[in-house]
Amino acid sequence: MNLQFAEEIIEGLSSTPKHLSSKWFYDKIGDDLFVKIMNMPEYYLTDAEYEIFSKQTSAILDEFEVNKSQLELYELGAGDGTKTIQLLKAMDPKNFTYHPIDISENALNQLQERLAKELPEVSVAPVQGEYFEVLESLSKNESKIILFLGSNLGNMHDDVAKQFIKQLAEQMQAGDKLLLGLDKMKSKAIILPAYNDKQGYTEAFNLNLLSRINSEFDADFNLAQFEHRPNYDEETGIASSALVSKCKQTVNIKSLDKTFEFEENESIQTEISRKYNLDILENVFAGSGLAIKKEFNDSRNYFMNVLLEKN
Ligand code: AVI
Repeated sequence: MNLQFAEEIIEGLSSTPKHLSSKWFYDKIGDDLFVKIMNMPEYYLTDAEYEIFSKQTSAILDEFEVNKSQLELYELGAGDGTKTIQLLKAMDPKNFTYHPIDISENALNQLQERLAKELPEVSVAPVQGEYFEVLESLSKNESKIILFLGSNLGNMHDDVAKQFIKQLAEQMQAGDKLLLGLDKMKSKAIILPAYNDKQGYTEAFNLNLLSRINSEFDADFNLAQFEHRPNYDEETGIASSALVSKCKQTVNIKSLDKTFEFEENESIQTEISRKYNLDILENVFAGSGLAIKKEFNDSRNYFMNVLLEKN
């Protein structure tokens, strides 16, 4: 039994409002669904970042100063690596080692297989684990570039993101760089469909959290009695997803020896996907010792890659 998941289920479903962390979305089924979401036309984030990486490759690599010394290129939450491969292809394989870091062993295996086929000359050293654990284990005496793409930072509340950036910066030395991929604040008409694709992959992705609890903890969530509900608040820039109980019901989680009551319309908050502007980012970076060196935008101005350098 995954004890951390067990504790978080008990804590989250005993709270008001109920909540579960989106980090538990990513089992084998969740990873596959996320790849499908990224291929949906509504989910503009991936295309926008891919466009930045493919059209502005040399500008990004210039900022990396790749030829200066042997580089360790870390990627947090590497996923299937499609965007990063654009950069790796343009880099001299003699100059760097690529370290994809992901909580999902399955995602790392798939990425490693893909890289072995597409870029066999690149040296790849994957690390499986939670970001914070992995970050603490990094050696300070190496020249580092850290990639944190795909607006993954947006899945953290601002106070957590701030703490995360601070901890990350503590593992960096002067001149090390961090490239963040961040989704920008914009109209609800663009953002909301990205979290409610017509094919229903996002709905299945959210509901998979309940199937996961059913299979891993012998629970009896009836998925047909929960609805995927996305929301976007244009004022705060926060997109969120919840699972809403369609009726009054009781759920048993046998392996945890727990029962949870749901009222009709009661929700479980499952994810936030924060959208950014520079003011919000300034607050997130404040006190970290990292300064913005350059900002790259896609042609529609939906998404940004921000390059930060440690002072
Ligand atoms: C991984 N993360 C940045 C995605 C996002 O946009 O928040 C996860 C996702 N959730 C629903 N669709 C995609």
